[in-house]
Amino acid sequence: MVQEMNSKMKTFGTALLTGCAAIASMANAAGDKEAGKEKAIPCQICHGKGGRSTNPLYPVLAAQHAQYIVKQLKAFKAGTRKDPIMNGMAEPLTDADMDDLAAFFQSNRNP
Ligand code: HEC
Repeated sequence: MVQEMNSKMKTFGTALLTGCAAIASMANAAGDKEAGKEKAIPCQICHGKGGRSTNPLYPVLAAQHAQYIVKQLKAFKAGTRKDPIMNGMAEPLTDADMDDLAAFFQSNRNP
C-alpha cells in the first residue's frame, strides 16, 4: 500500500515536472534565428531576401514582431486564416519551426 502510494506520487511528480517544463518553454518561446535562417530559404522566394519583399502581393516579414508571425503561422496551419499558398506552407511547420522562422524574420531590418 505504501509502496503503491509512493509510485503514484512519483508518477504525479514526473507529470508535474513535465508540465512545468512545457509551460517554461512556452513562456520563453524565443526561437533560434540561425536555425530559422535555414528554414526560411523557401519562404524567401516569395517574401524576399530576409523577408524584405518588394512585390506588393507578398507581405514584408523583415523586422515584423516574432509573436505576430507565430500567431499568423498558427492561424494558417489551423485554417482559421485562409490563404491557398500559406495554408500549405504552414501545414508541415512545428511550433519550434515557427519560433525559429519568426526569430529570423524579426531580426532582419527593412530595408
Ligand atoms: C509561394 C509564395 C509564398 C511562399 C513560398 C511563402 N509565403 Fe508567406 N505569404 C504569401 C502570401 C501571398 C501571403 C499573404 C496571404 C494573405 O493575403 O492573407 C503570405 C503571408 C504570410 C504571413 C502573414 C504576414 C502578415 O503580415 O500577416 C506570414 C507570417 C508568412 N506568410 C510567412 C511565411 C513563411 C514563414 C514561409 C516559409 C515557410 C512563407 N510565408 C512562404 C506567399 C508565400
